[in-house]
Amino acid sequence: MSDRENIRSSEITDESVYLNRRNFIRAGAMAGTAAASGLIYRYLNPPPPREVTTAEIERFSEAEGPLKDELTPIEDVTNYNNYYEFTTDKRGVASLAADFKSEPWTVTVDGLVDKPRVFGIEDLLKIEQEERIYRFRCVEGWSMVIPWVGFPLKKLIDMAKPLGSAKYVAFQTFYGGSNPKGPEVDLPEPPNAMGNVFAGIPFPYVEGLRMDEAMHPLAILATGLYGKLMPPQNGAPIRLVVPWKYGFKSIKSIVRITFTDRQPPTTWSAATPSEYGFYSNVNPEVDHPRWSQATERRIGEYGRRETHMFNGYAEEVAGLYKGMDLRKNY
Ligand code: MTE
Repeated sequence: MSDRENIRSSEITDESVYLNRRNFIRAGAMAGTAAASGLIYRYLNPPPPREVTTAEIERFSEAEGPLKDELTPIEDVTNYNNYYEFTTDKRGVASLAADFKSEPWTVTVDGLVDKPRVFGIEDLLKIEQEERIYRFRCVEGWSMVIPWVGFPLKKLIDMAKPLGSAKYVAFQTFYGGSNPKGPEVDLPEPPNAMGNVFAGIPFPYVEGLRMDEAMHPLAILATGLYGKLMPPQNGAPIRLVVPWKYGFKSIKSIVRITFTDRQPPTTWSAATPSEYGFYSNVNPEVDHPRWSQATERRIGEYGRRETHMFNGYAEEVAGLYKGMDLRKNY
């Protein structure tokens, strides 16, 4: 990715921030368990996502205040975006995507499954929606804390009933007429349709996860943020969020989810294999060939914070990679 921010590697996170971070990590861990309750993991009832009042959001933010991992303001979450189908200008996505129509919308689930199915977005919004506050770390070196709304990807996987031979899950973003529902769903061509030339990556955008990663309770399909339906610039109407991986794994505006027996191609590793791998787990010890990954800039803050292994979710996800060489499998 081109828009790398300037890194100061001398920054040292003091202990109080670290301890607070530990609290937040625990809260994040809770987000994956059925026993979790309260602010980090609350069901939005009734689903689909409803508008939450400003008062609710303020209470929410106050509760997170002492942890230092405060929510990134919605203005930043929705105006500093990577969505190359529209433009490579982070601050330009919101206006270019404003008229993007994400209804009607279908998500085709196919491949090595017992129950292939075409879901309408309305079907997916009927699944119980939860709020998940996650840190979000872009490979470029910036990060945010975002209150997503969505549901565990595992729920959809369970509905599809993958065959034993399915080892990976592949995801695809819409691209012009790529929505498989057919001609009645006339998806707009994204402005950056000549993306292969101007964005420097091939379209449609594709991503993938190993099956055990996809089944992990922290991996969600997000249908909204800050209690509202997903804004176009953040990947309406439905996107992946995998909080322990660099942000580019979290593919937006998904139209197809395919179960397969081999590792699927992924956009950034296809574009620049020496810089971006399939796994792309947040790892402060494995630098990008052109910059360090040891620190990050939280949007809205000056200075830099330490980057944590698996973006601070090591306790929950490190087991997925036991025995793997994370330098080779970057
Ligand atoms: N998905 C698609 N389809 N197109 C993209 O350009 N950018 C990725 C990811 N998903 C991208 C995408 C990158 S690089 C990042 S950091 C995140 O989306 C940004 O998500 P946000 O704009 O909601 O912060």
